[in-house]
Amino acid sequence: MTRIRPEKFAHVVYRTHRFDEMLEWYQFVFDAEVQYQNPALAFLTYDDEHHRFALANLEVLQPGNTDTARQGMIGVDHVAYTYGSLEDLFENYGQLKTRGIKPYWCVHHGMTVSMYYADPDGNQMEFQVDVFDSSEEGKAFMCGPVNAANPVGVEYDPEDWLVQIRAGKPASDFLTRTVHEPVSPIRGALSE
Ligand SMILES: [Fe+2]
Repeated sequence: MTRIRPEKFAHVVYRTHRFDEMLEWYQFVFDAEVQYQNPALAFLTYDDEHHRFALANLEVLQPGNTDTARQGMIGVDHVAYTYGSLEDLFENYGQLKTRGIKPYWCVHHGMTVSMYYADPDGNQMEFQVDVFDSSEEGKAFMCGPVNAANPVGVEYDPEDWLVQIRAGKPASDFLTRTVHEPVSPIRGALSE
C-alpha cells in the first residue's frame, strides 16, 4: 500500500497547573495571540494556523490533583498533524486499522475533524483535517456561539464515515458540522 503522509505539523497541547503563567509565557516568548480562551482551555497562534498551542488547565479539568512536579499530568497532552484532505485522513485510518492501530477518540471539533491515536509509549497525537479555508474563519468559529456552547466537539463513528466517503459522499458533507450535541467527553489521559 502507498502510505499516506500528513501535510504538516499543526500544534501542541500542554496540560498545566500554571494556566495564567503559561499563557503569559507563550504570549511573550512566541509573540503569540490568544485566539480563544475559557477557564479550562486556551488556544494561541503566531501565524496563519488557527492554533499552534493550546493549554489545558488542570485546575479546572482535574480539580484536586495538586501535583506540580513535571511528571504525571503535567506536560504534553498531544501533538497534532494536519492531513491534506478528509479522504486522506480516512484512508489513513483504514490503512492503520489493517495493522491493528486504531484511534482512541474520533471527534468533530467544529474547526477540525480529528482522530486521536497513541503510540506504543502512550504519547497522544491528533490527526486532523481543517474545516475552514482561512484562519479568520477558524477564529470566527472559535469565538462564536457554537464553540462557546460546545468547546470540545461531537463524536462520530469512523467506520460509518469511511463507508460513506468511499461511496462517494462529498467531503463537504462531513466537514461542515451540522450537529453540535451531545458534547463529547475529553478522552485519553485527561479522562483517566
Ligand atoms: Fe489538538
